[in-house]
Amino acid sequence: MIHGIQPHGGVLVDRALRGPARRDAFEQAHALPRVELSERAVADLECIASGVYSPLQGFMTEAEYQSVVGHRRLPGGLAWTIPVALQLDETRAARVPIGEIALALPNGSIVATMTVTSKYVPDQEREAERVFGTADDAHPGVATMRREGPVYLGGQVTLVDAIPHEDFLQYRLNPKQTRAAFAEREWRTVVAFQTRNPIHRAHEYITKTALESVDGLLIHPLVGGTKADDVPADVRIRCYEALLEHYYPKMRVLLAAFPAAMRYAGPMEAIMHAIARQNFGCTHFIVGRDHAGVGAYYGTYDAQKIFNEFNSEELAITPMKFDNAFYCLRTKQMATEKTSPSTPEERLALSGTALRAMLARGEAPPEYVTRPEVAAVLMAAMAVAS
Ligand code: ADX
Repeated sequence: MIHGIQPHGGVLVDRALRGPARRDAFEQAHALPRVELSERAVADLECIASGVYSPLQGFMTEAEYQSVVGHRRLPGGLAWTIPVALQLDETRAARVPIGEIALALPNGSIVATMTVTSKYVPDQEREAERVFGTADDAHPGVATMRREGPVYLGGQVTLVDAIPHEDFLQYRLNPKQTRAAFAEREWRTVVAFQTRNPIHRAHEYITKTALESVDGLLIHPLVGGTKADDVPADVRIRCYEALLEHYYPKMRVLLAAFPAAMRYAGPMEAIMHAIARQNFGCTHFIVGRDHAGVGAYYGTYDAQKIFNEFNSEELAITPMKFDNAFYCLRTKQMATEKTSPSTPEERLALSGTALRAMLARGEAPPEYVTRPEVAAVLMAAMAVAS
């Protein structure tokens, strides 16, 4: 029995074998042709197998891919905006048969099997334009898409061993576990907050404003691959801990790690982030300014507007949309244009990018940007790195 909001598509996918079946499958997998996965593919595999990407049961077939790129929906009509296929270069792909293969970590250890039913070479320029809105190689998501390879494999996956992790284990909750945590706390409505940055005052403002109208808040930082100049996940986790310790009510907030890799696909990724959080059991999802954006590729509120393209049958989770939040010198508090009578000169802008730039210059961020306990963690991390 599933508690709370239905998973996307109605069933929480679980593609992990357990007990003797897992042992047998693990041994048999060693006789299969083996494909070593990139780090991004490992993150995708984990998301598929643990139900984060429900209803996907495997990497996307060509039919699914075409439906997603062409219509922003899976073949059955459910919202889905970013292809999740296993990409390989031509040489490695040529060795992969249609049928059973083993999937291994970059170090060679086998963790899964895959029934390859589809092998295709899609039009990546079209994918770049449709998904990322640009074919520019300077876009980190486009560059990764090309780097992962031109040949795509699709088919169901089965985990035959756990995907190992060494860091922040206590925060690595799968969708079943977050759903159980919400049920235990008797939260009927939960808002999820996606972030890839240390939480600054604008983030704090929008998460708390959202929490005012629901039972619980899931702070759900992405810990999969990010671009090199983003703050590393271990430093961010220390920031979240310092912040939660002093500034959030413990009974209303759960901190957990979101295992996906960042694609920087702006509006398209906002939809994926929302779908995943629905699978984790959240009823609401925060979408602020330039969600999952990078550089100047997307309009400030494109990631909010795209939610209007889907009805509640196609996407059940409710977006909570926030205007750009800033520190208002006139009212001496965090605000947005909706809530503050200030002139533009009275607004102190806040962004993760500005915060990173300040730290890179060795400047301590002021309190209207970041809480001092968080600034201390960031300054210490910068000192170690330089
Ligand atoms: S993201 O790539 O995960 O979107 P980030 O961690 O900076 O990047 O943002 C997390 C969430 O906070 C996103 O929904 C984003 O739109 C929102 N956000 C970030 N900064 C602001 C701001 N100043 N005002 C309003 N929303 C913001």
